[in-house]
Amino acid sequence: MSDQKVKVGITGLGFAGVEHLKGYQEYSRSEVLAVCDLNQERAEQVAEEYNVPFVYTDHREMLANDDINAISVGLPNFLHAPMTIDSLNAGKHVLCEKPPARNAEEAIAMANAAKANNRTLMYALVLRFGGDSLMLRKMVDDGELGEIYFGKAGYVRRRGIPIGAGGWFVDKSKSGGGGLIDIGVHALDRVWWLMGNPKPVSVLGATFSKFRHLVSEEIKYDVDDSAFAQIRFENGATLMLEATWSLNLPGAGYLQIAGTEAGAKLDPLTIYKDDQDVTPEVPSINGFREEVKHFVDCILDNQMPIASAEQGVTLMKMLDAIYESSDKMGEVRL
Ligand SMILES: NC(=O)c1ccc[n+]([C@@H]2O[C@H](COP(=O)([O-])OP(=O)(O)OC[C@H]3O[C@@H](n4cnc5c(N)ncnc54)[C@H](O)[C@@H]3O)[C@@H](O)[C@H]2O)c1
Repeated sequence: MSDQKVKVGITGLGFAGVEHLKGYQEYSRSEVLAVCDLNQERAEQVAEEYNVPFVYTDHREMLANDDINAISVGLPNFLHAPMTIDSLNAGKHVLCEKPPARNAEEAIAMANAAKANNRTLMYALVLRFGGDSLMLRKMVDDGELGEIYFGKAGYVRRRGIPIGAGGWFVDKSKSGGGGLIDIGVHALDRVWWLMGNPKPVSVLGATFSKFRHLVSEEIKYDVDDSAFAQIRFENGATLMLEATWSLNLPGAGYLQIAGTEAGAKLDPLTIYKDDQDVTPEVPSINGFREEVKHFVDCILDNQMPIASAEQGVTLMKMLDAIYESSDKMGEVRL
């Protein structure tokens, strides 16, 4: 299939869906054949702006289009599993936005559908695809940091609760959770990946919901606005995570990992070895464009994506365990 193009349909045309669209259109190995959104006006507007030939409001009609061989899912979280599974069962490859799903049970069903249909399922974990993350992961793979035994990452907003179309972000039945599953997933996934995706064995977490008053009363609000966790891995390593939509502390985004040979942090990428700090020159890479290219290349070159269906399952198991640990006020073994 290496001389062909991947022909894509995109469902859900919020910020994420449109970022996917731009990525496919800019890449020589893909083209966008269709867009789909429940909001017909939105779908038509995007199709016109980006010159997309087919417009749908019902994803099943889009899936019946045999010229389409891949689907991008940029929908609210509760639709990730059903839309992804329908697409895989229709024989399409799928790039699904983060978080993989509302919980691990859904992510397992998605991974099973990919396997049963022999199709690629990749998660759009965009932070893995920035220039600094890719360079650091290569250093880790090359053994430059030695054995990595500690990581910490935070995605801390002082104020920043998203609502989404119809308030889905803050309704647990639709989102699966709040700041942890929405932005904590980015921080956790990236530090876990940079540590080499060790197998999690134990989780201690605490989540809080303290900022209901910031969201208008008519909107259902039953999600966490801050979460803190420690995860232990089978290889002995550990990581610490902070994820907040709202917290009375300065906003911050950080990631650090420490190994036996060297340590590293991002923003900017800095390597700590003995008493030297080195700041390598990092290539400028747009993560949204790069993740889409990777997905297309995986389909055409028959490669396993670096953000695979199986990793999506483990990621959701860690997030589920943080919520469970918080509820029971104790450690959860995986
Ligand atoms: N990677 C990132 O940085 C990033 C950024 C934003 C959002 N996201 C993810 O993308 C997903 C969407 O988030 P968003 O902020 O774009 O949401 P949004 O609410 O702004 O947009 C969702 C779109 O989906 C449409 N939609 C809803 N139900 C539909 C259906 N049944 N069929 C077709 N269209 C339907 C809505 O009309 C809306 O246009 C979420 O999973 C979110 O976590 C990722």
